Amino acid sequence: MDRHDAELKIAALKERLNEYGHQYYVLDNPVVSDAEYDLELQELIKLETAFPELITDDSPTVRVGGEPLPYFEKVEHRTPMLSLGNAFSDQDLRDFDKRIRNQIGDDLAYTCELKIDGLAVALTYENGRFVRGATRGDGTTGEDITQNLKTIQAIPLKLNQDVTIEVRGEAYMPKQSFLKLNEQREVAGEEKFANPRNAAAGSLRQLNPQIAAKRNLSMFSYSIGYLENDDLDSHYEALQLIKKLGFKTNQETARCNHIDEVIEYVNKWVEKRQDLPYDIDGIVIKLDSIEQQEQLGFTAKSPRWAIAYKFPAEEVVTTLREIELSIGRTGVITPTAILDPVVVAGTTVKRASLHNEDLIREKDIKLGDTVVIKKAGDIIPEVVNVLVDKRDGSERDFAMPTHCPECDGGLVRLEGEVALRCLNPLCPAQIREGLIHFVSRNAMNIDGLGEKVIAQLFAHQFIQTVADLYRLERDELLKLERMGEKSVDNLLAAIEASKENSLERLLFGLGIRFVGAKAAKTLAVHFGKIEALQEASEEELIAIDEIGEKMASSIFSYFEQAEVTELIGQLRELGVNLAYKGATGSQDLSTLESSPFLNKTVVLTGKLEQLTRNEAKVRIEELGGKVTGSVSKKTDLVIAGEDAGSKRTKAEELGVQIWDENQLIAAFAEIINN
Ligand code: IVH
Repeated sequence: MDRHDAELKIAALKERLNEYGHQYYVLDNPVVSDAEYDLELQELIKLETAFPELITDDSPTVRVGGEPLPYFEKVEHRTPMLSLGNAFSDQDLRDFDKRIRNQIGDDLAYTCELKIDGLAVALTYENGRFVRGATRGDGTTGEDITQNLKTIQAIPLKLNQDVTIEVRGEAYMPKQSFLKLNEQREVAGEEKFANPRNAAAGSLRQLNPQIAAKRNLSMFSYSIGYLENDDLDSHYEALQLIKKLGFKTNQETARCNHIDEVIEYVNKWVEKRQDLPYDIDGIVIKLDSIEQQEQLGFTAKSPRWAIAYKFPAEEVVTTLREIELSIGRTGVITPTAILDPVVVAGTTVKRASLHNEDLIREKDIKLGDTVVIKKAGDIIPEVVNVLVDKRDGSERDFAMPTHCPECDGGLVRLEGEVALRCLNPLCPAQIREGLIHFVSRNAMNIDGLGEKVIAQLFAHQFIQTVADLYRLERDELLKLERMGEKSVDNLLAAIEASKENSLERLLFGLGIRFVGAKAAKTLAVHFGKIEALQEASEEELIAIDEIGEKMASSIFSYFEQAEVTELIGQLRELGVNLAYKGATGSQDLSTLESSPFLNKTVVLTGKLEQLTRNEAKVRIEELGGKVTGSVSKKTDLVIAGEDAGSKRTKAEELGVQIWDENQLIAAFAEIINN
């Protein structure tokens, strides 16, 4: 075939293949079989191989993915990619509607759209040609992921009109593709993705586009970021134009004239969202008229004319097999539900705390029950209720024991408490838990001494009291399972270093009832030395600001015990510091004891809406946390804002706790209110 014939043939093939692709991937309406499509594609590949100069950037062959990139270029968005305010209830939606009507009157319409749970992207077309695709990034600057986006069949490479336009939307992975991908990854021994959003984000952040090409991603376009000669009157019109140009738009979008209709739409999807072939995490409600949108304008972060209704926490059903009991250092018995593993909001849940006996009774929980689980605040697994109708008679009543499962001591319920307690001070479980508390981060902070090692040392009777920790011998430790020379030396060095801690750490570590980190600091500052505290009378203690009667009485009776005097004498002999070293001594614990950030390593990622990153960082640091840049096994908490990317994915993979911005702010607020 000569060059001219090839050119004609290539043009015809491209047009046909692009049309087949559009019908299949955008309109969900296959017009040819896969085999026919493939035959023509192979023919095109053959011709393009023979005449490489005839390859254009709108050829469907580019969808297989080009060469890997060294890194992603930064792209500044022409107009910021904003986020949306949230609504969590019908009332929030009515308030939103009221605010709008107060400003522009009653003559209005809304569009309601599914909020696709994927990754926001912006696609730029010049004269109808796809030239650049970018992630949202921080809203102002994103990353150029054009190569990866080209592999998505729902993104046209050439539009039906030669317009210059920026179209925005959500790239996502259909549920089916996600399940298939995870199956393949399991077979290949690779880590599975937690949910389709992570899988989509992970795929688009690959430098090698051939990977994205295999991931079967799709995209719904939902707005115009820029349009040359823009004369659109409404958002609905914008959606129609996008569709006409060749983009995939969501067919569930509806236009509503009244907030009641909006609420009806929302409720319909609360019920039906599981039936969709892709994940959604809410509904986006937008005021339709562009003129009215302009009247309302924007806040710094989001438009006043749109809002995102977020679905309530996902609930799933599973079976409660057993109730396990654990004994805390103060003797409190806590029941935990052991569940058939089930995925809730992206992670597998196997256990859920039942808190206390009353809760088990209130919820009428029996062993073998079918239960509804959700994650409170999307983090902590919780049994919502029992599905009583599912009982078949095989369920067994659960009764709290009358005796401690560990030491067989009698259990009591102290007046005014819901908790059941083992009062035996020699209960091994309590001693073990007390030792774990002593070495923990907020107390003596001994690295390498986790729960498992303590349990091991305790089981071998190497440690009975906290003083025994300072008597551990290298040779003995080396005899333990999983204890090599290096870990033993590191451990001994960490124990030795802890001798230098300022007094407040020791005081907190001793686990005196009601004495938290903050009170320990107050006591250390006030008395300076442990000897002075040992000699303090109850009155003297009460006279200190922040030390109430209950705490004073508890501290006084603690130091009155002969074993305690003996223990402190031993610690002194072993070289443990028993004095307050001032703010520069060891790490300052003056931060509020209730701070969830105390000694925690926190990573901030994604776009925060209500705070700047720096504000969040400063606040967390004030509250005793450490803010670092990358997620690792050492990270305790990740704060994921809008469009949090690879760091969030990594945190999910490592099982690191993740909060959204609202949870962060709620935690700040709680500390202030305390
Ligand atoms: S409109 C200025 N419509 O939700 C408003 N967003 O905070 C721009 N999203 O990051 C967003 N589906 O990625 C809009 N139908 C939809 C959406 C949608 C998903 C995402 C978007 C953005 C976030 C809103």
